[in-house]
Amino acid sequence: MGEDVRAYAESQRSTFERFLRELVEIPTVSADPARKGDMQRCAETAAELIRSLGGQASIWPTSGNPIVFGRFERGPDYPGLAFYNHLDVQPADEPEWKSDPFRLRVEDGRYIGRGATDDKGPAVACLLAAKYAYDRGLPLNFYFIWELEEEIGSPHFEEGLQAHRSEVRVRSVFVSDSIWISRDRPSVDYGLRGLQGATLYLRTAEVDAHSGVTGGAAPNPIAELCRILMACFDPGTGEVKIPHFYDDVVPPTEEELDNFVQSGFDVERFRKTYGFRWLRTEDLRELLKRIWAWPTFEVHGIAGGYQGPGIKTIIPHWAEAKVSMRLVPNQVPEKVFQLLADYVRQLNPLVEVRSHGSLAPYVGEFKGPHADALRRAVRRAFGIEPAFIREGGSIGAVLTMKKLLDVPILMMGLSLPEHGYHAPNEYFDWDQARRGIEVFNYYFEELAQLYRG
Ligand code: BES
Ligand code: MN
Ligand code: MN
Repeated sequence: MGEDVRAYAESQRSTFERFLRELVEIPTVSADPARKGDMQRCAETAAELIRSLGGQASIWPTSGNPIVFGRFERGPDYPGLAFYNHLDVQPADEPEWKSDPFRLRVEDGRYIGRGATDDKGPAVACLLAAKYAYDRGLPLNFYFIWELEEEIGSPHFEEGLQAHRSEVRVRSVFVSDSIWISRDRPSVDYGLRGLQGATLYLRTAEVDAHSGVTGGAAPNPIAELCRILMACFDPGTGEVKIPHFYDDVVPPTEEELDNFVQSGFDVERFRKTYGFRWLRTEDLRELLKRIWAWPTFEVHGIAGGYQGPGIKTIIPHWAEAKVSMRLVPNQVPEKVFQLLADYVRQLNPLVEVRSHGSLAPYVGEFKGPHADALRRAVRRAFGIEPAFIREGGSIGAVLTMKKLLDVPILMMGLSLPEHGYHAPNEYFDWDQARRGIEVFNYYFEELAQLYRG
């Protein structure tokens, strides 16, 4: 059986590439309202891909972007498994792209393009894996839920799923949208951080003023926002200074931290992968706690003032900072936003604080029959135990599926740190796709047994 699965996976290379190309070449940047038409087009293309493999597909409309719903159903009485992936992508505005981010470039088994690894490649790997399991008669129904608003916090996912939840007859959900420790160490995630985004906007005058004529007396909005940001967190340690910010935090247990440390994560490899000139901590246990299970405050961008060539001696009249806070159990995004807004108001009541999306943190179980099934599948495919970890990213739909479907949610991505999530020249690779198709099939076999018994 293992031989056949491996041979099948190997045989899918050209199909995989063709499907991925179709998807990557539609610029599904969910943050950009001008891409609205591409979202619909991508949903239709994805539905066609599912149909071309013999599945059924429909498109759930929402008041935002549509959701693709695919089915490979054996019969109404078979146990079901739903896959979640997202087909929207981050903007590709980075000047470091070496080729058009929305043309798939294939080079030495690498697929380069925006969304190749996050999350179009893994979506196609899941699809091809399920197609094989379906064709060879595994007694399972397979469902696909492909979202097009994940990268903006899944604002209409609940609306779409709520309207169609009776069609999703499943015993568990499988999410492939996260990263491994390294190419040799697969990881299964049982937790994600939440996110509260915000913009801070300050206007100090109607127009810019001469900095020689007014400087010394004029308020500087950029400097004032910097003061406020520095009051919110310590850039050296990352410690958040907003009063009561940590009140609801449940720290990871020592057992969890032990597991993190044993995951095979390497601090120097991490530093090199991202090219960081330094790190806030180099202690393995402390670093893993901070990126996977501790809240943060980050500044994503500061705007205002003069950005052209040379220097322009003005006092700018406005400034804006885009920030977000990653959250962990049991922090409540709306409550944390209120803490930030109150604190900033106290520091300077003229600063306008706007919420930019709220996602609650998620922690599931890493024990139980599904986790064991996945562990066995990984061992069979790669001869190694997966690391059971939490990761620091956020996927809004996971909490919504937990709430509406109320079944175990298993998360195992196929992406690697070097694939460059959200980075220029993002890529996926055939090796990971092939290994995904294989290991997922072993997992389906395990599930078929689990649900039979
Ligand atoms: N796939 C990521 C989330 C992720 C990253 C999970 C790393 C596990 C490990 C997802 O596409 C993502 O980037 N989510 C955004 C959501 C936000 C924009 C609302 C994130 O985490 O920044
Ligand atoms: Mn993703
Ligand atoms: Mn992403």
